[in-house]
Amino acid sequence: MESVRVPLGERSYDILIGSGTLKDIGRHLKGTAFWRDSSARTAIVSNPTVYKLYGDTVYESMAEAGFEPVKVIVPDGEEYKTLLWAEHILGKLLSAKLDRSSFIVALGGGVIGDMAGFAASTYMRGIRFVQAPTTLLAQVDSSVGGKTGVNHPLGKNMIGAFWQPSLVWIDTATLGTLPKKEFIAGMAEVIKYGIIRDSEFFEFIGKNKKDILNLNSKALTRIIKRSCEIKAEVVSKDERESGLRAILNCGHTVGHAIETVTGYTRYLHGEAVAIGMHMEAHFADMPQKEVARIKRLIESYGLSTGLPKDIDEGALMAAMEIDKKALRGELRFVLPETIGSVKVLPVKKDRVLKALKRGG
Ligand code: NAD
Ligand code: GLY
Repeated sequence: MESVRVPLGERSYDILIGSGTLKDIGRHLKGTAFWRDSSARTAIVSNPTVYKLYGDTVYESMAEAGFEPVKVIVPDGEEYKTLLWAEHILGKLLSAKLDRSSFIVALGGGVIGDMAGFAASTYMRGIRFVQAPTTLLAQVDSSVGGKTGVNHPLGKNMIGAFWQPSLVWIDTATLGTLPKKEFIAGMAEVIKYGIIRDSEFFEFIGKNKKDILNLNSKALTRIIKRSCEIKAEVVSKDERESGLRAILNCGHTVGHAIETVTGYTRYLHGEAVAIGMHMEAHFADMPQKEVARIKRLIESYGLSTGLPKDIDEGALMAAMEIDKKALRGELRFVLPETIGSVKVLPVKKDRVLKALKRGG
């Protein structure tokens, strides 16, 4: 197995990456001092789609190792990432009598990871949890870094906590059942890491497209590991996003605005971020040749880079003005100086509007 350490003092943890490893999770936990003294009572939080595919494997692995897992199932979908369903999870933990030395295994994509992590952060004022991410997006992004939470009718991810997992257990074989569209959307976040931090990685993603799309396990491990290394490095320097961590939002200012304006139904998050990364590259002072490389790589994975004609630029601008990076009415973006290096910089509104009107 490959491993990446997230160095955060007493909250440090490992990301372990392998193929076909879900069946070993119980043995690993039991064999590690940190977990050995846990209460036998644990919970596996998942949704029906993922539990049907991988739930029994994880359950049996935990039970064979001597844990007594309770399964907690929430419906599949972003619309269930709510306080109400977090409360449902907490109720199941209470009924099953989990105690302060118990832990939760979050088995699923980013929705499950965020919500189970949030439940862990609040159950008896905080218990440990393991992320077992099963989407590409969750394996390279949401399972690492400790952002947990739920949505509110007035805003996405508006209720939450920074609560680091104690282990991230990545089984790349789970990507074999992930719908292709979800996989491709996750690739947008992988490309993002190349743009913000590593030009060689950016090239690797381009050169190894065939292996990556064929889910070759070596290629998958390489892209997931490198993405996690970059995320771990950024998070360890700025856990609570007071500065550097904002670079992980490259492409996300425009991306979030697209999601807002289209009511979160038309684009998967990664699909909107892909358009955002290309649009935002136009705001940067980088050679056109480099902008074209970004566009080519994104499109080579079947992702769009242009705004659809029916999106109103005024509405996009309004959505961007409430972005967390906006400062005193000024729009700020994560802009590449060159591929592999970015800065958070203000951009004049007329420049943004001009690029949006051109549509990419
Ligand atoms: P998701 O969790 O909704 O999963 C997408 C779909 O794939 C779901 O229908 C799910 O049931 C299914 N699925 C998951 N794994 C599967 C598998 N192996 N085989 C078959 N189907 C599978 O979506 P996502 O893209 O993983 O996560 C999106 C969420 O992540 C959003 O709520 C977003 O806010 C959050 N997020 C959080 C962070 C963070 O830092 N915490 C970062 C990025 C995104
Ligand atoms: N997904 C952005 C972050 O974790 O900060």
